[in-house]
Amino acid sequence: MNGRLLSLLLALLLWLPAAMAAEPAYPLDAPAPDGRRAGGTLTQELPAPPLAEDENKDLKRERNYPEQPPTIPHSIRGYQIDKNSNKCLTCHSRANSARTQAPMISITHYMDRDGQALAAVSPRRYFCNQCHVPQKDVKPLVDNSFKNIDQVLQDEINGQQKP
Ligand code: HEC
Ligand code: HEC
Repeated sequence: MNGRLLSLLLALLLWLPAAMAAEPAYPLDAPAPDGRRAGGTLTQELPAPPLAEDENKDLKRERNYPEQPPTIPHSIRGYQIDKNSNKCLTCHSRANSARTQAPMISITHYMDRDGQALAAVSPRRYFCNQCHVPQKDVKPLVDNSFKNIDQVLQDEINGQQKP
């Protein structure tokens, strides 16, 4: 490849992004649609909404299906889980649950991937927040039409009864 062709290519490479940036698809001061944050313009920075508090009523919530990891009904702010310690297990482990009256982690938390029960919590169930999450005291951002299995079964019965 000769030198001229190379410099031509280089110029094209440098020019292309600049040319594309020159014309944004939307004017930057156009009002944005209301999404998860309310309106504003594309370039306007609105303050982030304050973080909501964890729902902390100590009441177990209904599970939508039997295998659902139950959501956490108490605050977990500051609960550390790392290589050396696991705050959750200070209440939920087999040995501590009698003293704390926290529900003991179930047998599945002691199983390896072959379904073999181990003496101690299985490493794959050690980081509790991978599966269990607290809930915030807020209005849902998006609609949800999830039906649990009882509703699905009920709908089926109702459908069959019609004609
Ligand atoms: C100070 C003790 C304590 C600690 C620490 C604690 N819990 Fe709990 N947890 C409880 C008690 C007691 C309950 C029973 C409901 C209640 O009183 O909130 C409970 C309930 C739960 C439930 C609901 C179980 C169900 O059947 O619905 C989950 C899930 C849970 N905790 C997960 C966690 C996780 C994950 C952590 C660590 C991030 C944690 N807990 C730390 C005491 C504790
Ligand atoms: C890989 C996902 C996963 C991880 C990690 C996990 N859990 Fe669970 N947990 C579940 C599922 C799924 C259930 C419901 C079915 C069952 O018992 O296996 C459950 C159930 C529970 C229950 C209710 C037990 C009962 O008998 O009603 C408690 C309490 C709990 N987990 C606490 C914890 C704690 C504490 C940790 C961390 C040490 C933890 N879990 C880690 C998935 C997980």
